[in-house]
Order: sequence, then C-alpha cells, then structure tokens
Amino acid sequence: MKYLYIETVGCQMNLLDSEMVVASLRKHGYELVPEPTAADTILFNTCSVRQHAEDKVYSALGRLRRHKEKFPQKIIGVMGCMAQKDQRLIFERAPYVDIVVGPGQLAQIPELVAKAEQGQREQLVVSLGRRDGSAAEIRRSHETFDPLRDPSMRPTPFQAYLRIQIGCDKFCTYCIVPMTRGPEQGRPPEQIIAEARVLADQGCKEITLLGQTVNSYRYTAGGQTTRLADLLGALHDIDGLERLKFVTNYPKDMTTELLTAVRDLPKCSPYLHVPAQSGSNAVLERMKRGYTVEDYRDMMSRIHETLPHAAISSDFIVGFCGETEEDFEATVALVRECRFKNSFIFKYSVRPGTRGAELFRDDVPEEVKKRRNNELLAVQNQISLEENERFLGQTVDVLIEGPSKTAEKEAGESEVLQLIGRTHDDRIVVFDGNRRQIGQTLPIALYDCNSHTLFGAVVTDHVGPELHGLSLGV
Ligand code: 5AD
Ligand code: SF4
Repeated sequence: MKYLYIETVGCQMNLLDSEMVVASLRKHGYELVPEPTAADTILFNTCSVRQHAEDKVYSALGRLRRHKEKFPQKIIGVMGCMAQKDQRLIFERAPYVDIVVGPGQLAQIPELVAKAEQGQREQLVVSLGRRDGSAAEIRRSHETFDPLRDPSMRPTPFQAYLRIQIGCDKFCTYCIVPMTRGPEQGRPPEQIIAEARVLADQGCKEITLLGQTVNSYRYTAGGQTTRLADLLGALHDIDGLERLKFVTNYPKDMTTELLTAVRDLPKCSPYLHVPAQSGSNAVLERMKRGYTVEDYRDMMSRIHETLPHAAISSDFIVGFCGETEEDFEATVALVRECRFKNSFIFKYSVRPGTRGAELFRDDVPEEVKKRRNNELLAVQNQISLEENERFLGQTVDVLIEGPSKTAEKEAGESEVLQLIGRTHDDRIVVFDGNRRQIGQTLPIALYDCNSHTLFGAVVTDHVGPELHGLSLGV
C-alpha cells in the first residue's frame, strides 16, 4: 500500500481534476491520507487565476523543503494551472519538486509517479502554448481527462461535478485561463450522458455541469450540433437525478433557448451564475468582455421574463487597470439594480502572460482595491440579506448535504444534529435534523436568515417514520 496526499486550491474544475487523479492513483495501489507527512506522494493541484493562489502553493512547497531532505524518496508533484503557467520556474523555486504536470496531461500522472519512484527527477509535461503550434496541435495537446470517478472525493455522496467543456476562447484581458487550460473544446454528448448515468447509479441526485463558459458549449459531429439546452434535455431523462446545475455562464451566450430549457425542465435548478465583472462600459471594453452594461441588463430582463424566480449570482473584479471612482460607482449601481443572490468579488491581480498585463498598467493602489472590495461586498451583503428575508415564512425543498460546520466542529456521534443543505435555487439552509436525513430532499420551513444562510425546521406534517423518530428526540 502507498499513501497519497493531495491539496487542491481553486475552482470546481480543480476539485473535479483532483477526484480523477485520486481515482487513477487508487488503481495503482494508492490510498489517501490527510497529512503530507504521512504520504509517499504529495500532490498540489494549483490555481493561477490570482497571485494569492500561487503564493499559497509556493509557501506550502517551501514548508516541505526540510521534509523532502529528510525523506528524499518521497515524491512531490505540482499539477494544474500553475504547472502549465510556470513550468520550469517551479523547479527553480523548489528544486525538490519531482513532477510538474499541466491540466491537459493529468492522465499521465500514474506513469510519472512510477518513473519518479524509479529515481527520475524533474519531469515536466505540459501542453503547447497558445501560439506554439497549429490550432489542431494545440487542441490535441490539451487532453480532457474524465475516465474515472471516485465517490470519496465528491462534495457529498449525492452531488457530483461533470465536465462538459475544457478550455476557454474568450481571452478576457485579465484572465490566465485560456493560456493554462487551452482552447475551448466541448466533450462528446454521448460521453457526458454515459458519465451522468454512472453518477446517478452511484447515488448522485445532483450534477453540476462544468465549463469555463459552460453555456457556450457546442459539439458538432456528423453535421449535427449539440448545445447546452440539448444536453440538459437528454440528461433530464436519467432516473435518480433530481437536480441539474451548470457553471460558469458567459453573458453573451445566455440564449433564450437555454433559458426556456431551464424553465421547461423541472430538474434544472433555477439558478444561474453569470459573471458581469464590471458595471462600467469603459472597464468592460478594456477587459474585452465582449458586451456592454446595456447588453448585460438586456440579458437580465430576458432571464426575468423566462425565469421570474431564478436566483442569479455574479463575479466582479474591482480595481482593474484604469478603474476610476465613477467606473466603480457604476459597478455598485449594477449590483443594486440586478439584486444578485450573491456575488464573488475579487481585487484585480495582474497575471503575467495575459493581454491585460501587456497592455495596461496595474494602476489602482492596493488600498483602493481593498476599499472598493469591501464597499461592494457590503452592498451585495445587504441585498443578499433582503433577498433571503423574502423567503421567511415559506417552505422550501432542501437537498440535505450533511452536518453543518458547527455540527462538524462539535464532532459528536449524536443522531440529532445541525444539518446543512441547499434549495433548488442554490440557497444555503441550516436546520436541526437527524443524521439519517442526509441525502434526502425534505421540506424545510424558514424562520430566520442572515445574508448567507437561511434557518429553518423540517416540516413534520408529511413525513416518514424516521422524522417522527426525530420529533421524539431519538
Ligand atoms: N484578478 C482578479 N480576479 C480574477 N478573476 C479572473 N482573473 C482574475 C484576475 N486576474 C476572477 C473573475 C472570474 C473569477 C473566477 O475570478 O471574476 O469570474
Ligand atoms: Fe477567463 Fe474570461 Fe474565459 Fe472566464 S470567460 S475563463 S474570465 S477568459
């Protein structure tokens, strides 16, 4: 038996990649351990979207220097976006790293680990850069890696991610993703549907389809093009699946056809994550987002027309190059107007290798970025609170994910405990329940909230026997 430790930073795509890598190494006799010191192979699945994510990995590597000196037979690998972006630089900064492997070569990890066990050092496998070959060669060099699944690595046994697309062709000027994950490529629909069936058979009730611009998904074969709406239609027929989500959406590709599919397919969650990034046309233009604030507004009204009850969430970058106080105020105004369920707000972080880093000066001081971040967050939090308050007194269906963070900390074995779950439109709900309810979808009456969480109680009038057990305090 060999032991594997894997640390993952970044997005859902990375969580899924880690699941795949764990599944493939298990096939080669590896078992997961929770501490790097107990492992034979230590892997970091990395993110390059902001400097901070990279700094975290370099410091974690730094902390392993002494450990590797003491145990030179241990294998240290860096995988994911930072591996693709920094390549040899990783060996220069941490010469005790054995393997650097990009997101397009993850299938090779078992082989690379085996070679490292035989003493091979500084193995580097990455994809071609976006200017380093013909379009077809570059595309081929980024392989999708979705052959194996590992239920133990999922967010919960009832929820799974499913990749439908790799890469991105939008080239927003601030973003490194098109460089690290390569050209946009849709996976064949038959593969996606087969994988969804496996997941449903394994007990998954909720599948989240993943793509950098998931609603731009298209796959053409034999003269026929499949779009996301078609895929949702096909996945909807799979027995056992209750909820279908998809992230992340690109505003320009939010077609009415897709919105109609979400409306007409009850398993599709009425939840759309559509990053706006900024509320200023001048900034959107420099970001090369390919739409104006007016286009974004227009998209919002089309969403409201078709899906009046959908929850919408967004991403924003504050302090992008040249962002004035007026630009920022325009972003605040857009957040107030759109009343997002929640927004993820980031301070601009210049990424070497992007067009933004070449073209513009990172001229908004750090304190200004920080202030704008806090201000926008405060506005969003107030809106999130007000939007949550509208649900008080209502009963909603909640897919119960597991013990809440508080209950996990208390870590008792008690059957009655605080549970956490989500509504169909992705709101977090916390309530007291019974361990046996985990994995069920139950009606919860909501009585309180803050900006992040709704609090409720299981509705006991149409319940099964185990719930009566709960009311007796069993
Ligand atoms: N700096 C800050 N935030 C960024 N994002 C992407 N690139 C950068 C960057 N260079 C944000 C965007 C994107 C989210 C995943 O990360 O808001 O939607
Ligand atoms: Fe990055 Fe823009 Fe592609 Fe999103 S759409 S991954 S922000 S380049």
